[in-house]
Formats: sequence, structure tokens, C-alpha cells
Amino acid sequence: MSIGADPSAALAALARRRADYESAGLDVADVDDDPIEQWKHWYGQAVEAGCVEPNAFVLGTVDDEGFPQTRYLLARGVDAEGFVFFTNYDSDKSRQLAARPRASMLFTWLQLHRQLRVVGLVERVSAAESDAYFASRPRSSQIGAWASPQSQPIVDRAVLELRVDELEAKFAGEPVPRPEHWGGWRLDPTMIELWQGRPSRLHDRIRYTRPARADPWAIARLAP
Ligand SMILES: Cc1cc2nc3c(=O)[nH]c(=O)nc-3n(C[C@H](O)[C@H](O)[C@H](O)COP(=O)(O)O)c2cc1C
Repeated sequence: MSIGADPSAALAALARRRADYESAGLDVADVDDDPIEQWKHWYGQAVEAGCVEPNAFVLGTVDDEGFPQTRYLLARGVDAEGFVFFTNYDSDKSRQLAARPRASMLFTWLQLHRQLRVVGLVERVSAAESDAYFASRPRSSQIGAWASPQSQPIVDRAVLELRVDELEAKFAGEPVPRPEHWGGWRLDPTMIELWQGRPSRLHDRIRYTRPARADPWAIARLAP
């Protein structure tokens, strides 16, 4: 197996790596009163800036032993109701969300020296919403959703490839239906925090909180 380039020089310099952030600042007066609208502004700017996978975020859940568990996902919808993502309902993350319907999301747009943290309550989206999104996916991804027992141990990759072949034969010439074990979750935020990198580590942090959906968002500046 190839192990690639020698990383020792990069590792030796790791503690000394320092980028100074010259970006424009962030003030309570400048941000949108609604953090979801603010997310949309920042997402649009991330797309314009060419950030890699601008809709990627780290989903944080808590497992049965109380350990935090994180992994990247892709946001597929954002509106006044919250943030939507799709996955396997039998996966580890979905089992954790079902047991404790609370989660965090972390978006990072490093080229813009920005992160956006979200905390909130989660619930499954409607079957109709999952159906609609599933139908919009490439056929190979639809087959993949059937083929992969996400988060389960498998003997080798050939197991998956064999399942894909079997499923392609099974669904040949017809639309691939959504498996019941695959669908969306919506996170309804109670907290959203914007972080903008600034020079000399005096970064800007603006936190929005809303204890319940009916409450207005409260906005505060936090020390970096
Ligand atoms: C950039 C990126 C995007 C991803 N998007 C998704 C996604 O939208 N849905 C998904 O189920 N897994 C996605 N994954 C894979 C997950 O990180 C994870 O490996 C998988 O969902 C199993 O997680 P779990 O065992 O904690 O349930 C993505 C991974 C990366 C690196």
C-alpha cells in the first residue's frame, strides 16, 4: 500500500502554522435579524468564493454511552422550518437521533475564515418530502441507498458490488422506489452562532438564541 509523501516536515511546522484573518468584521447591527437568512447570505458568499462542498457540515450526535459522535453530511434544504439532510434511518447517526432528538451542525467556510454553529431539535421529515428528494437523486445513488447497510460491518467491498448488481437487475427498466430505511431529518434550530475570523485572534462571534419556535431570536456578541 502506498503511504504517500513524507509528512514529517508538515507535522514539524504544525504548531507554528498561523494565518492572520484580514476579513471584514461582523457586528450585531450588520447581521440579519433572522439567522436562517444570515446562513443563506453566508452560503451564497461561500458558493461565490468557490468553497469546496459549501453545503457540507459536521453533524454532532450523542451515542448511548454519552460520547459525542461527529461526521460530515450535506445540507439539502434550508428554510424557516430548519435544516434538512438525508441519510439511512438504520445508521448509527439515525439511531442516536431517534434516541435523543437533539443535534449540532457545524458549517465551516475556511476560505472566508467563517464557521457557523447550530444546535437544535430534530425530527424526521415527512415521507412525501423524502420521496421527492429521493426521486431527484441520480439512479446510481438511489441503488446505493438500497445496497448499503450503512454503519454495519461488511466483509469486503465485493459484498456491496454484488448487491448493486442484484438491485440493478431487480429494478431494471423501472423507477427505483425509496427504501423505507432511507429519508430525511430536519433540525429546528434553537441556537445559531456566527464566527468571523479577525486579525490578532480578536475574532467576531454573534450568537442567536431562541428557546422555542414562537420566541423571537435574541442576539448577543460573545468574546472570542
Ligand atoms: C463531504 C461528505 C458528505 C457526506 N454526506 C453525507 C450525507 O449527506 N448523508 C449520509 O448519510 N452520509 C454522508 N456522508 C458520510 C457520513 O460522513 C458518514 O460516514 C455516514 O453517514 C455514516 O455515519 P454514521 O455511521 O455515524 O451513521 C458524507 C461524508 C462526507 C465526507
